Amino acid sequence: MKAAIVTGPTVAPVYGEFPYPALQEGEIRVGVTASALSHLTRARASGSHYSAQNEYPFVPGVDGVGRLEDGTRVYFAMPRSPFGAMAEQSVVRASHVVPVPDDISDVAAAAVANAGMSSWAALRHRARFKAGETVLVNGATGASGQLAVRIAKHLGAEKVIATGRNPQALAALLRNGADAVISLLDQDFGDQLQKHSASGIDVVLDYLWGNSAFKILGAAAKYGPAGRAVRFIQIGSMAGTEVAIPASILRSSCVELLGSGIGSVSLENLVSSIGEMLATATAAGLDVATQPVPLSEIADAWIAEESSRRIVFTV
Ligand SMILES: NC(=O)c1ccc[n+]([C@@H]2O[C@H](COP(=O)([O-])OP(=O)(O)OC[C@H]3O[C@@H](n4cnc5c(N)ncnc54)[C@H](OP(=O)(O)O)[C@@H]3O)[C@@H](O)[C@H]2O)c1
Repeated sequence: MKAAIVTGPTVAPVYGEFPYPALQEGEIRVGVTASALSHLTRARASGSHYSAQNEYPFVPGVDGVGRLEDGTRVYFAMPRSPFGAMAEQSVVRASHVVPVPDDISDVAAAAVANAGMSSWAALRHRARFKAGETVLVNGATGASGQLAVRIAKHLGAEKVIATGRNPQALAALLRNGADAVISLLDQDFGDQLQKHSASGIDVVLDYLWGNSAFKILGAAAKYGPAGRAVRFIQIGSMAGTEVAIPASILRSSCVELLGSGIGSVSLENLVSSIGEMLATATAAGLDVATQPVPLSEIADAWIAEESSRRIVFTV
């Protein structure tokens, strides 16, 4: 079959021929139509993600949209290696598939799935989020962060505070769900954090880690209302992989430090989160700017400069 093929950790995938997958017990075959190029897919292909298997050659792509043999349109996640989503066909466990509603296109569903899941699963399965709470999204200017702002509002957040460094994207967030924005580049970032922490932040969805996460944890511990738990959910590490956290932050406050992703949320709950989100995506305005690219052009698209639009390979 036609497929993208990864032959080693430091090389971009090439378009070529790969064997058709044979079904194993409990699996179903998907005829793929669309698969998004997420950070997770890139990191697993390069071998740098903690869940990467590093056995070559394999087909990249952690998820996608396609048709089952009976014609049902589905989103599918975590195909059995070496059969990834970026190929004519893929195989997944039957439990890793959810229907795609009629009101969203294959490309739009593929683009929004992993990015939207990051906050939907974090709020539903890690944060014990309740309607009426205040959510701070750290690093809200990317695809996942922008969706996190709208998803937090959609799930009933009273107030959503967004941080980021891109001024245009922050201004757009104020028009699209955020009640307040804080620039990571402003001199008064710390003062702003103090003010918002003192008013009470219940949940932090963190896409950055690094220095800003350190400052948010510190402000939550120092200025947060006594006894009010701040559930800090680590989701992405765009700004750094490590933070040195003083013991006093955890001892002196009700800060709870958790993560959300593969391993901390079961695959079944990650997939069901995507199903819930897709069911409401169009009505709730949950979308991502996309750039559809034929799979045959993967070698060039993979190494192209970062774009503000999410690349979705079409098959
Ligand atoms: N755990 C999960 O379930 C899950 C699911 C999906 C994604 N993620 C993770 O979430 C993160 C974001 O993913 P995405 O899909 O939103 O990516 P994206 O669309 O490429 O956006 C990345 C964002 O990160 C910002 N950024 C990069 N480096 C930064 C820095 N040093 N300081 C501040 N901001 C910085 C960029 O800001 P500018 O606009 O200023 O360049 C951009 O807005 C990734 O780490 C991804 O792996 C996790």
